[in-house]
Amino acid sequence: MSKPRHFLSTVDWSRDELQSLLDSAAELRRQPIRQALQGQAVALLFLNPSLRTRSSFEIGAFQLGAHAVVLEPGKAAWGIEFEPKVVMDGEAEEHIAEGAGVLSRYCSAIGLRAFPLFKDWSHDRQDRVIKALAAHASVPVINMETIVHPCQELALMRTIQDHIGQPDGKKFLLTWTWHPRPLNTAVANSALLIASKFGMNVELLVPDNAYLLDEQFMDAAYEQVEQSGSSLEITRDIESAYRGADFVYAKSWGALPFYGRPEEEAKLREPYRHFMVDGAKMALTNQARFSHCLPLRRNIKATDEVMDADYCVALDEAENRLHVQKALMLELMGKGER
Ligand code: CP
Repeated sequence: MSKPRHFLSTVDWSRDELQSLLDSAAELRRQPIRQALQGQAVALLFLNPSLRTRSSFEIGAFQLGAHAVVLEPGKAAWGIEFEPKVVMDGEAEEHIAEGAGVLSRYCSAIGLRAFPLFKDWSHDRQDRVIKALAAHASVPVINMETIVHPCQELALMRTIQDHIGQPDGKKFLLTWTWHPRPLNTAVANSALLIASKFGMNVELLVPDNAYLLDEQFMDAAYEQVEQSGSSLEITRDIESAYRGADFVYAKSWGALPFYGRPEEEAKLREPYRHFMVDGAKMALTNQARFSHCLPLRRNIKATDEVMDADYCVALDEAENRLHVQKALMLELMGKGER
């Protein structure tokens, strides 16, 4: 049996393939109700909470005629062990070998959300949980956020193209923002990957080099800008970063050198509350649009003024999650009409 095509990271997909999904998403926005996946099912495994991902996948499957089975392993479904060759004398009742095997018999695709464990980055950076699922599944696996968030990437790039057109050569500012806790780097990694893949001039604004992203993503982004003839710059200068930006994307994330030591990281982060996105910073831009993956703490990551401004397109990006994921499910699950 041939191996299924998974959607684990956009690194594995070409720009043309991703653009085809984005074009399909725009078409699905115009004509949302199809029955192309009638009678099929998709399993959605959530090891972590969600508002947008869960609702947009469930509704998207429904609008395509498919059924979504939502499972929360360890809550209303058996806890799952993802590591190979373990003596399973802990909490998990089921191994992913059987869990993935069974769901592959019932469903045409399996989505998984599995955040890192925030203890040891050298372990978490390997993304072992979703790789274990992909190894054992005989149907396509969709990453619903692990250490990257490729569905969010598609929604972001759909939103960029909707609002500023052709992305090539446009200045994309990815700014770190303060938050009370050290958050997952997934969305920041993903923003870096998709903006660089689509030829944008990427500026990464961080308060300290400790907030640079993992080298596997920095290196991939550098390779992608080289291929597309654009650029990737790192800066700590807020004013120059915002000046001339065409699109501003905010995210908070934890410093990897302090991974698993949140109290120490909090001390490093404390002086940088002023990285919050506000109207004065946005005024420096080239009439940029602002977005965020959501959820967002208002007046912590961005002010009310920014979130309520016409240039804030975060709700458009959230809506686009629905359209791009339908395009993805059609691509991975269906050979039917578009
Ligand atoms: N942006 C995003 O993935 O939202 P949820 O965590 O609510 O799914």
